Amino acid sequence: MAALSDVSLPEVIELQQIGLGELDPLLAEEINVWTQRFAWDFRGSAELLRRFVQVHALHGHALRWRREVIGYAYVVVEGRKGLIGDFYVSSAHASATNEALLLGAVVQGLMLTSGVRRIESQLMMLSGGMSQIPFHRFLTRHDRLFMEVTADAVPALKPRAGSTGAKFYTWEERFGEEIAHLVAAAYRGHVDSEINDQYRTIPGARHFLTNIIRFPGCGVFAPLSSAVAVDDRTGRVCGACLTSMVSENSGHVTQLCVLPAVRGVGLGYELLRRSLLNLRQAGCTTVSLTVTCSNVDAIRLYESMGFRSSAVFPALVWEGF
Ligand SMILES: CC(C)(COP(=O)(O)OP(=O)(O)OC[C@H]1O[C@@H](n2cnc3c(N)ncnc32)[C@H](O)[C@@H]1OP(=O)(O)O)[C@@H](O)C(=O)NCCC(=O)NCCS
Repeated sequence: MAALSDVSLPEVIELQQIGLGELDPLLAEEINVWTQRFAWDFRGSAELLRRFVQVHALHGHALRWRREVIGYAYVVVEGRKGLIGDFYVSSAHASATNEALLLGAVVQGLMLTSGVRRIESQLMMLSGGMSQIPFHRFLTRHDRLFMEVTADAVPALKPRAGSTGAKFYTWEERFGEEIAHLVAAAYRGHVDSEINDQYRTIPGARHFLTNIIRFPGCGVFAPLSSAVAVDDRTGRVCGACLTSMVSENSGHVTQLCVLPAVRGVGLGYELLRRSLLNLRQAGCTTVSLTVTCSNVDAIRLYESMGFRSSAVFPALVWEGF
């Protein structure tokens, strides 16, 4: 019997069935992994999850093995879209089999949810050994890089504002609506709008901005480090770099985009340079960002400014089921 249970699979249960005490050890481990791997303080997000678990309002699945919760993934449904919000299997149990079991359960759960036609996920905590992603017939996969720069490298970056034909500001509320228009225009036909369909429309871009400004999923919005470029000729916003704090001493670039008509003259560089300087001044020793591997122009820009990639993770989209 003992040998049999050693090779048996974990039990898949609904997240709503588990109690707070059961999830706590796993969340404590996950907090450490986020810090070590991404210099990211996950405590705020974990606390939010705990509050939802407490009232049995967190949807998704968990893996239980020998009475211990060893993995979980929660989901959020927004209209026709299902989102896998977080996915984590403890390091002692992060086998390809266990990860596929958990991912299969949450994806199937969403596919069976009335009205859901599309599922999006960015799985930064997946260990990467899965040979075949569940429901692969409906899947599109884009790999993404996690890149970091040390703040000490930033002061050496030369200013380029002069040649850009723009004035630079820090974030102000009044720019919000124009930045929503900028995001929708900058990502038209872009690979990232296949990963995140909010980029495809102005209402979607507004929603995206509200999320990064008001909610902690991508860190705490840092308005004073976020840079906005306004075109001298048109007086309109033509580029933006939005930032957040993901721990006391690490910053994150949540968005960088420039209007197609004014690319290649240094606006992206200058926006990012200003944001990096401001983040450094705010006490950051490192700054990170994520970028899709096929976005080679952006990667070239980041590498030229000192960013180096430290992890690869998949962005997975299921559609047409
Ligand atoms: C990525 C993006 C922000 C870059 O913006 P950009 O303003 O075109 O970037 P820059 O002009 O600063 O740099 C791009 C190139 O122009 C060059 N350049 C910079 N200053 C220049 C200048 N004064 N004169 C001529 N060329 C210049 C840069 O060296 C760079 O060249 P490279 O491609 O050989 O490295 C922009 O392409 C964009 O919005 N893309 C869509 C959204 C996106 O992918 N965002 C990133 C998501 S992670």
